[in-house]
Parts: sequence; structure tokens; C-alpha cells
Amino acid sequence: MSNGSVEGKKISITMPPGWEPVYRDFGSHLGLLYHCAVIIDKECKGNIIEIGGGNWSTPMLRELVSIRQRWLVTIEDNLEWYCKLCKCEYPFHKVVLTKELNTIEELEVEYGRPFALGFVDAGCMADRVPWFHHLAPRVDILVAHDINAQSFGGDSSVISAIKSFKYCCVDKSSPMWTIALSNRFDIYKSFTQVEGVW
Ligand SMILES: C[S@@+](CC[C@H](N)C(=O)[O-])C[C@H]1O[C@@H](n2cnc3c(N)ncnc32)[C@H](O)[C@@H]1O
Repeated sequence: MSNGSVEGKKISITMPPGWEPVYRDFGSHLGLLYHCAVIIDKECKGNIIEIGGGNWSTPMLRELVSIRQRWLVTIEDNLEWYCKLCKCEYPFHKVVLTKELNTIEELEVEYGRPFALGFVDAGCMADRVPWFHHLAPRVDILVAHDINAQSFGGDSSVISAIKSFKYCCVDKSSPMWTIALSNRFDIYKSFTQVEGVW
């Protein structure tokens, strides 16, 4: 268990084996993301789409999908990072270099199923808003990192979208908040150790 604080309260987050130090030191978005991936794993058939890959969420999600034979697709818009991530492409992991939102529909057709979990962590803050809106109606759970950051948390269309979801859970255990939204799963209720507030 790793400790953090949400709204001033102490919380504990269960992480997959080996990921605890990462969560504590760098990957503040990983606890809630992992929890949502586990819900999806139990309840849905769809794949996982990640907007913005890197050293933390990508390997963690890759580990999860590789044991479950579910696809992880990482969308990258940075050539250097695309090449890095491609080098360690695993079975059940595809990396796509694009900025085009409609790539999502093409990938749904290619894999013959929708994405169950969407994770928005694109490099450019301004790019996150369109991805957020594009994925919101398409996935069972939408997770977004740095939701409080300028031009993301401050965007009124994002705030209205957040409020339109039935279920919302925010992990404020680091200054860069992570949010999980769903119309299907009460993430807060199942994520008993984290407060769900916006
Ligand atoms: C916020 S990072 C994504 C981090 C990723 N979701 C993770 O948890 O590892 C956004 C973008 O910055 C680039 N990037 C990834 N890891 C990086 C790093 N360690 N330093 C600088 N840029 C990075 C990639 O192009 C990525 O799409």
C-alpha cells in the first residue's frame, strides 16, 4: 500500500506488485488508472487506449493487457517518443503516431471492438481537451491526468463534461490530480480508499 492524501485525508492505494515505488515517487496517476484497468478487466471486453505514452503508464498497462490478451493502443504525436515506445512494443501493444481524433474509430473497426478504458495524458495540454471530449462518449471509463492543470481543468467545456458523468472520482494525492469518470461504474464506491469529489 502507498499513502497519499485526498482533501487532506490520508488514503491508501493498492498497486500491482513492483509499482508501489513508482506510484509514490513519480506516477501519481497510476493508482487510479490501475484500479480502473482492473474494473475493465473484470467487467468489459473492450481494449485500452492511451493518449500519450511514457515510462510509467505504458509499461504498467502493457503488463496488465499482456496477461489478459487485451489490446493496449498508445497514441503518440511525438516522433522521438513514438520510436522509443515502438522499440519495446509487446504482443498486445500497438503504438500509433497521429494527432487525428478519428484514428479511434479506425482502431475500433480494426480490432472489431470498442475501447473500454481511455486514458488522456497527451504532451500538449491544449491537445488533451479534444481527446477528452472525443473519448468521453466512447469508453466505459475515462481517466485523465493533470485534470487541474491550466487549459485542462480550467476549460469550462471539460468541467461541464465532468459534471455530466454519473460517476466521478478524483485522486488528489499529488498536486497533479487524476480523474476517473464513468456512466457505468461507480469508481469511487469501488475505490474505497480514495475520496470521490470534484
Ligand atoms: C505526460 S507525458 C505522458 C506520460 C505517460 N502517460 C506516462 O505515464 O508515462 C506526455 C507526452 O510527453 C512525452 N513524454 C513521455 N514521457 C516523457 C518524459 N519522461 N519526459 C519528457 N517527455 C515525455 C511523450 O510524447 C508523451 O506523449
